[in-house]
Amino acid sequence: MIGVRKVRIHTFGCQMNVYDSEHMLCNLAPLGFQSTLSDEDADLIILNTCSVREKAAAKVFSLLGRLKRHKRSRPGVLLAVAGCVAQQEQEELARRVPYVDIVLGPDQVPSIAELVEQAERTGGQVVATRFLSDPDGLFSQGAALVGNRVSAFVTVMKGCNQFCSYCIVPYTRGRESSKPADAVESEVRALVDSGVREIFLLGQNVNRYGMDREGWPRFSDLLRRVSAIEGVARLRFTTSHPADCTDDLVCCFAELPNLAPYFHLPLQSGSDSVLARMNRRYDLNHYRGRIERLRAICPGIHLSTDLIVGFPGETDEEFEATLRAARDLEFGSAFSFKYSPRPGTKAALLADDVPDAVKAERLEKLQAVLYSGMARAMGAHVGRIEPVLVEGSSVRSTSPGQATGRTGTNYVVNFDVPGSVEEWRGRMVPVRITAALPHSLAGEPLT
Ligand code: 5AD
Ligand code: SF4
Repeated sequence: MIGVRKVRIHTFGCQMNVYDSEHMLCNLAPLGFQSTLSDEDADLIILNTCSVREKAAAKVFSLLGRLKRHKRSRPGVLLAVAGCVAQQEQEELARRVPYVDIVLGPDQVPSIAELVEQAERTGGQVVATRFLSDPDGLFSQGAALVGNRVSAFVTVMKGCNQFCSYCIVPYTRGRESSKPADAVESEVRALVDSGVREIFLLGQNVNRYGMDREGWPRFSDLLRRVSAIEGVARLRFTTSHPADCTDDLVCCFAELPNLAPYFHLPLQSGSDSVLARMNRRYDLNHYRGRIERLRAICPGIHLSTDLIVGFPGETDEEFEATLRAARDLEFGSAFSFKYSPRPGTKAALLADDVPDAVKAERLEKLQAVLYSGMARAMGAHVGRIEPVLVEGSSVRSTSPGQATGRTGTNYVVNFDVPGSVEEWRGRMVPVRITAALPHSLAGEPLT
């Protein structure tokens, strides 16, 4: 009989890391590990890291610094670094941080239990950062059935072949590799059988799903298959690349009733010259065409985006083009970032010549425009009746009967329900939207 032990996983970065953390938790269960939210209780601490911007990577090193003392006072505790920082630094990380026991790259998530056993057996550092090229081995884990969830992520492909000049992902996640459609389908079925109602399909560039294998279905075919699985009340996916956003995918928004009207399409810059330096393979005109098509096929669709300011050599005029695009295209929401040079990328060879104060000023201006676009998009929901998938109790709620959920357009809605919120969890409820607040909507249920 294996004794109960505790694992604390700190997850940084994107949804893929959330998905990988859930799998590490499941893969560790046979060793007797249960999840805890406290470092103090933990026998194993895992940092699942992100290196997309310097700030994200710096957070990891600052947490590692804090954990040094913790390890000294509890030498039996194992410390593992997973994710993109681990993949990027490999042995160097083990050298720099000698009290780290395990360094594992994203492809080694299925092997976490063996790596922990190896570290325990040998007492030495274990570094596992090999990329796997065999998709069957890579995607052999099945569904992570953790907790009582309404919504779950399913990775459909890993890696990226795009090599946008600023981006570290192709180096930390390796080449594009698609998960077999049957494996996606059985994972979704297992999640739905466990009570999940919303499925979020993940990939760095899902538009290229299946293209790494001869005769595999396209992403639109995969969407149709997942959409048809009984019990999938709502389907979402991310991320799409504008250059690969084909019409067969766009048409899915008209065809599939459970595909939520939400589309994340990163623009990165509104300037054609910056887009070319970023190696993005499209111009603003192409991007605008895709957005117009999406809006024609699916009126009211929520379009969200990513934008970077202060890319090397970005002039005032080039930045103004981004500002204009943000104004004209009216995004429902957006993530915006200051450019951060990443070691090993093409852009890191260019001088990071936009001073930080200028980047900060540009970001502030851009965010003001994006914020007012979001406020208008949210305001347009007021008076409408929206299908809301209830996720649970509102965390900010002052009344015990306040439920929280999301519209198909992905805005949070809080509303009072009679009786216990638990009974409403997982239900799709028509809600009349009564107010748009700074970060959420308020409403009243119609059932
Ligand atoms: N600096 C700033 N932002 C970046 N992103 C990716 N790499 C960088 C970088 N080096 C942003 C892009 C991407 C999002 C996930 O992160 O906008 O779409
Ligand atoms: Fe990075 Fe570009 Fe790939 Fe997205 S498409 S992960 S930005 S290289």
